Amino acid sequence: MAYYWFKSFHIIGVVVWFAGLFYLVRLFIYHVEADEEPEPARSILKKQYGLMEKRLLRIITTPGMILTVAMAAGLLWQRPDVLHEGWMHAKLGFVALLLGYHHYCSRLMKKLERGECQWGPKQLRALNEAPTLLLVAIVLLVIFQNSFPTGATTWLMAGLVLSFVVTIQLYARKRRLDKERQAIASGDQVLQNS
Ligand code: HEM
Repeated sequence: MAYYWFKSFHIIGVVVWFAGLFYLVRLFIYHVEADEEPEPARSILKKQYGLMEKRLLRIITTPGMILTVAMAAGLLWQRPDVLHEGWMHAKLGFVALLLGYHHYCSRLMKKLERGECQWGPKQLRALNEAPTLLLVAIVLLVIFQNSFPTGATTWLMAGLVLSFVVTIQLYARKRRLDKERQAIASGDQVLQNS
């Protein structure tokens, strides 16, 4: 029974951890974009985003990570045999990358606070894709373990996921371009009226 408790809270920890990681970098993007605003909006927004980032990391993201790792230790204690399996070695490799990403985000947050962050919104958007890739890799590993299928269903699923991702990216890009065009048009309007 203990195994099921550990597994349940392991999965809950994963959900909380990833929600925190995804939202944290989204906040970094808004934080960096606030530089385009005139004062006093810029300072107010940057202060607010800084506060939200700190709270998110402290109250959601880091506790999610601790819960995931603590419950994983419980799972390994109950089933130490999985430590000899290839899929678990690969999973631990991806988890190490995820922990590195978490640590890097907390450093980036401190740099943003000090105004020393060199990353632009485009780079941050790209950075925000990293946990998605790790999530997909880890979930596929825990589900298929050592017998990853390579048949037609796999290719169909890969095609579906890929077209879903491309559609979302194209839609987000279109929205950004529309917003930029709107901003330019309203700037022109102000110039004409003055
Ligand atoms: C700290 C490192 C981690 C260790 C040592 C670990 C270990 C384990 C173990 C032993 C299981 C049970 C496997 C089984 O019953 O067959 C498990 C299940 C699971 N793990 Fe992890 N895990 C870790 C981190 C993660 C992370 C970061 C994620 C998500 C990205 C994750 C997602 C899952 C999922 C979804 C399951 C349930 C799979 C199932 O039985 O249906 N784990 N983990």
